[in-house]
Amino acid sequence: DKNILQDNFGRAHTYLRISLIERCNLRCTYCMPEEGVQLSPKSSLMTYEEIFSIAQTFVKHGVSKIRLTGGEPLIRKDIPVILEKLATLPVELSITTNAVIIDKFIDVLKSNGVNKINVSLDSLDEKKFKHITRRHEFKKVYNNILLLVKEGFIVKVNAVLMKGFNDNEIIDFINFTKDLPISVRFIEFMPFDGNKWDMSKMVSYAEVMEYVNASFPKDDIIRLKDAPNDTSKNYKIKGYRGSFAIISSVTNPFCDSCNRLRLTANGQLKNCLFSSSESDLLTPLRAGHSIEPVIQQAVQAKFKVRGGMDTLKKLQEPKLHNNNRSMITIGG
Ligand code: GTP
Ligand code: 5AD
Ligand code: SF4
Repeated sequence: DKNILQDNFGRAHTYLRISLIERCNLRCTYCMPEEGVQLSPKSSLMTYEEIFSIAQTFVKHGVSKIRLTGGEPLIRKDIPVILEKLATLPVELSITTNAVIIDKFIDVLKSNGVNKINVSLDSLDEKKFKHITRRHEFKKVYNNILLLVKEGFIVKVNAVLMKGFNDNEIIDFINFTKDLPISVRFIEFMPFDGNKWDMSKMVSYAEVMEYVNASFPKDDIIRLKDAPNDTSKNYKIKGYRGSFAIISSVTNPFCDSCNRLRLTANGQLKNCLFSSSESDLLTPLRAGHSIEPVIQQAVQAKFKVRGGMDTLKKLQEPKLHNNNRSMITIGG
């Protein structure tokens, strides 16, 4: 099919992540610099009609999964309309959120077919949560995770691990899955503009497994089958209701099976999480031109691994990874 979004390495792009907003109600240190980021003027942010129109074009080219991200997608005022519009497309619609205010959106999520929700939560300790997010919202997030499960959503919890900060909570997080049917995914800390990344702060896949192997009997640690195009390596502890996983974009990238494209809130297409170049879709759309050639060109320009930073050495060069945006305006 000449219409599908296939790149030069044979990867078909069927998953679009749309960032709805550049702002957030938390201030996570790994996601944004203390002083904040330069926000786009309102006039250059996509309206819900523009989001819908761009999404339609991607669906026409084979996209079957759309994930809404931010900043925090739920603080966008017209989120109910966006959900309603996108729910008319033949896609799996999901959302990644910090869950601080998700209790107000249970019905609108359900009625628009959103049944999988990924929640960011980096600590089960209230004080540490405050430290990392610079906000006092732990109890809301924790209770909302329980609420989502009770309401029947499939919940994944994303925890970015940072050495000496929350790596001592790996086992607590796994034990959180004992009675709760969620997946906790430990994420290797990745470099973005303004997040003061350095390799020594990252907790690797191998290190997570050292903690796990030291805490559970070998026969109780079960490696699960990963879904196609999964970001994570999935495991469970025998007898536990939930599971855990590691997202190892740094030490063990999954770029070979990458099926993702990203659309920023100001209408720029990123062909990779780590791409330094972006393709403007909003300007041609507003001018009444077709955005299809721009999309195809962006897909053809995609690098094989991490936006060209194929080795750990390259990933560690600030001049390479600082060409990118801050995570808050990419959306993960
Ligand atoms: P599922 O649809 O449930 O598989 O979720 P997901 O893993 O695609 O999305 P989510 O927003 O929960 O992202 C979890 C973590 O994986 C975040 O830290 C993302 O930055 C990271 N991630 C998601 N997609 C990619 C990707 O294409 N490349 C890399 N390197 N990391 C990714
Ligand atoms: N490294 C790894 N993961 C990150 N996220 C945000 N910033 C980083 C980073 N620097 C994760 C968040 C969220 C997801 C969309 O991206 O925890 O769950
Ligand atoms: Fe895809 Fe880029 Fe992520 Fe690799 S780093 S999986 S190419 S988005």
